[in-house]
Amino acid sequence: MSYAEAYNIEDLRQLAQRRLPRVAWDYLERGAEDDVTMTANRAAFERIHFRPRTLVDVSGRTLRHQLFGKTYAAPFGIAPTGAAGLYWFDADIALARAAHAAGVPFVLSTASFVAMERVAREAGGGPWFQLYMSKDREAAERLVRRAFDAGFEALVVTTDVPVGANREYNLRNGFVIPFRINARNVVDGLLHPRWLTQVFLRTLLTSGVPRFQNVDSNVGGRIVAKDLSAFRARRDALDWSDIAWLRTIWPRKLLVKGILAEGDARLAMEHGADGVVVSNHGGRQLDGALAAIDALPAIVAAVGGRMPVLFDSGVRRGSDIVKALVLGADLVFVGRATLYGAAAGGEAGVARALELLRTETERVLALIGCTTVAALNRDCLQLPDCI
Ligand SMILES: Cc1cc2nc3c(=O)[nH]c(=O)nc-3n(C[C@H](O)[C@H](O)[C@H](O)COP(=O)(O)O)c2cc1C
Repeated sequence: MSYAEAYNIEDLRQLAQRRLPRVAWDYLERGAEDDVTMTANRAAFERIHFRPRTLVDVSGRTLRHQLFGKTYAAPFGIAPTGAAGLYWFDADIALARAAHAAGVPFVLSTASFVAMERVAREAGGGPWFQLYMSKDREAAERLVRRAFDAGFEALVVTTDVPVGANREYNLRNGFVIPFRINARNVVDGLLHPRWLTQVFLRTLLTSGVPRFQNVDSNVGGRIVAKDLSAFRARRDALDWSDIAWLRTIWPRKLLVKGILAEGDARLAMEHGADGVVVSNHGGRQLDGALAAIDALPAIVAAVGGRMPVLFDSGVRRGSDIVKALVLGADLVFVGRATLYGAAAGGEAGVARALELLRTETERVLALIGCTTVAALNRDCLQLPDCI
């Protein structure tokens, strides 16, 4: 099977798993510690059911959707994912281009292997930039200015990584910086020759692995461990005053990602954010955190329509997207779903993932008797008691 024959995101997931060696697959697929939160994200979606209306004329249905004064072709987009170049050569560009072609937003991670300027140039227009910020304001400001000069439309500050997550499989797999080559990695790489030559060796020959080109002390240079620690420097000392400060140096849209508590959504608003992303990082940070979809309704209520509330974590189907929209999300991001597409077929694989999500979302809209995203309302859902 190729990505073109994939009928759903699960098909792409299986293709990706076949193509990738363990070290890359685990980093893409797994959560933190025991995957409790990652599993909870899926289980929570499955507990929510639709209450479809019937005999509604849905022939004029559309997914077109407005956010921040722009019209997107669909109410979803691509979340930031670091080290995407592990799955496909220059995957960040593949993701950005496919999103642009599909008319949906794309967020570039600080931890991309491709420099943000090149992604902005080659994306075809309007990407957003995700900021991993250190307490070193000089370094943070240089990064933010680069994003501004490169034309990124929005800055998404990730706040749920005060310290690195506990991902024991990375240690076991030798996935540490600098990359540790062990016998298992070598055998695994040889068993995946297409990945070895077309992704790993190609990246190694052109830029080295891994090379986080947005780390400010590393522009045009080779990555060494101290560069990464520079952008992680004292991140555990960040607080809301840093968001207020970012607001003074970033005039475009500013979003705070990693929100799971109503109080934090209110604080984001008070400190000048234009929106929040309700997210548990796809279950990759605090294992045991609640499912993001369970946190969404209370946050939407606390915000009370004063700013957009965006959402990610656990989305694999168009029906998940519709559920999050009904619960008040103004836009829904996917992380792994499009990475599976990238690993399975680069830009065309990402386009396939986005197309699958688009057709599924549109079909669900019709099946529940709705013609527009704006017309979705709580009566469309049967919620479990816990929400
Ligand atoms: C491989 C991988 C790398 C990620 N890297 C980042 C990152 O650099 N910055 C960030 O804010 N979130 C990162 N995330 C989290 C995503 O932005 C998003 O919150 C998450 O993937 C959503 O869950 P889903 O994968 O179930 O859709 C990453 C996720 C994955 C799977």
